[in-house]
Amino acid sequence: MAQQDVHVLASDIDNTLTGDEKALCELAEQLTSLRKEGKLFLVLSTGRRLDQVLDGLQNENLPEPDAVVSQVGTEIYLPPLNENSGNLKSWEEKLRKEFSREQALHYVQNVEGIEMQPEKFNTPLKVSCYLDKAPDPEKAVKQIRAAVDRDQAGCQVIWSSSRDLDLIPASAGKGKAIRFVLEHEQVASEQVIVAGDSGNDSSMFEEFGRGIVVGNAKPELKAIESEYGTDNAFYFASASYAAGVHEGLRHFGVC
Ligand code: GLC
Ligand code: MG
Repeated sequence: MAQQDVHVLASDIDNTLTGDEKALCELAEQLTSLRKEGKLFLVLSTGRRLDQVLDGLQNENLPEPDAVVSQVGTEIYLPPLNENSGNLKSWEEKLRKEFSREQALHYVQNVEGIEMQPEKFNTPLKVSCYLDKAPDPEKAVKQIRAAVDRDQAGCQVIWSSSRDLDLIPASAGKGKAIRFVLEHEQVASEQVIVAGDSGNDSSMFEEFGRGIVVGNAKPELKAIESEYGTDNAFYFASASYAAGVHEGLRHFGVC
């Protein structure tokens, strides 16, 4: 797909597309017809694992994508998407070179109140914890970030929804993974619109400077305007969930 006029929508799933079933149904229908007409390249960009994305395609009415960026931008999958799909090895290899899970774990040991997320959410390229039971989660995040930055540890700290803490390779994250997909699939990337609701989405806004913040977004994502400046085309939708994404796509003239 190398046409110049194709729009790219890279959207988060949970609480961005999901949350309002009727609105998602309407949006999915529209996205599916834009894809059929060759006008849209759709990336689902999520913290979910691939099996959870597949479940969403089956049971939650998520639209069929052209690519999946999963596990907070540490894995990429291209169609055909099924339980046997392998992730894109060139992305994995690039990340493995810079990241040591052992070193990343070192930053979350001995933090008061921290809990590891279940094993299935922890991978060689992603250390994930819950931090909501820490006495002062925000302060703990700041301290972990400062230590990671000080050591130039080849990893980055992602803080979402006042609960989820991810340590992933410095070159990973949703934004950079989407960029990698577009180059790999030779999709012109001037027309990228991203959509999200929480902290793990902010790298998409940083990378592409153009996107939709849904009405129900968490404060940490709403803060992107002050973080990345006002030169960007960030659209803060009034509507929530999929209706907010739809509103934003109308704003950007996609539908
Ligand atoms: C998803 C992932 C979880 C991660 C969170 C925020 O819920 O399953 O591991 O911490 O997204 O990025
Ligand atoms: Mg979300």
